Amino acid sequence: MTIYNLGSANIDYVYKVDHFTAAGETLSSDGMQVFPGGKGLNQSVAIARAGSRVIHGSVIGEKGECLTQVLCDSGVDVSRIQTVNAPSGHAIIQVDKTGQNSILLYAGTNHLIDREYIARFLADAEPGDILLLQNEISGLDAAFEAAVGKGMSIAFNPSPYDDTLQKLPLHDVTWWFCNELEGAALFGGESPSEIADRFLRKYPDGRLILTLGGDGCLYKSADRLIRQPAFPVEAVDTTAAGDTFTGYFLSAAAGGKDVADALKIASAGASLAVSAKGASASIPWLSAVQKRYPDLV
Ligand code: RIB
Repeated sequence: MTIYNLGSANIDYVYKVDHFTAAGETLSSDGMQVFPGGKGLNQSVAIARAGSRVIHGSVIGEKGECLTQVLCDSGVDVSRIQTVNAPSGHAIIQVDKTGQNSILLYAGTNHLIDREYIARFLADAEPGDILLLQNEISGLDAAFEAAVGKGMSIAFNPSPYDDTLQKLPLHDVTWWFCNELEGAALFGGESPSEIADRFLRKYPDGRLILTLGGDGCLYKSADRLIRQPAFPVEAVDTTAAGDTFTGYFLSAAAGGKDVADALKIASAGASLAVSAKGASASIPWLSAVQKRYPDLV
């Protein structure tokens, strides 16, 4: 089984701030660093560093060499990436004193993904392969259609949430990766258990992984309910913690691990990501996770 990840690749400009800027406020930052990022890229890096094969699809533009490089260095298959002469996607990220972030996106070449590119990207995909998607690219409707046509299963991280998502054929999603805000917007409900109950009523065949930040995560499907606590760490920068979780979980689940074990290893991976700065730069290799948590699985 091969994992295909069709997603964004962004140049992240990360500013250290005392607090997030308010309307009308001008704020001096305490420093700026540039990192490769984008939810798509981060999740491919996490899958590969967790030990699984992943084929990454992105359209990358100007100054995007560092994006392809980090994917290559992590062991991701980059043979389907297209490069064009147009501005790459980027993100302006504020990270405050507590490690929380606030992200502003510019889509750039991430919005040049179209039906033709998707057909090329998935040309060799086979029934049973997984297509992983997030909501930072164009062409999601065509990607859903192509995956279903090829008998692939869809793993979806509906992030960032917007109303256009409701127009997608969401019944086709097998694996859902949402945080509480995304879950509440998509399924309704307020508490995690309410969100999960409503999810299952709407998508009885789906599998929901609801991430809850410092409170860990909750897994719900027709036959299982699992709560996995977070591994306690001091948060330096939460950017890409969710992406690390998604990549590690999918790598473990696709590799045949039981869901409970996949949740545990994903939480451990995410805890290490939170302890380091940057997006893809903070995503740990499996060996680092095993070293930090030798009794894991
Ligand atoms: O999930 C973190 C990512 O969100 C950042 O790398 C940024 O590029 C945005 O896509």
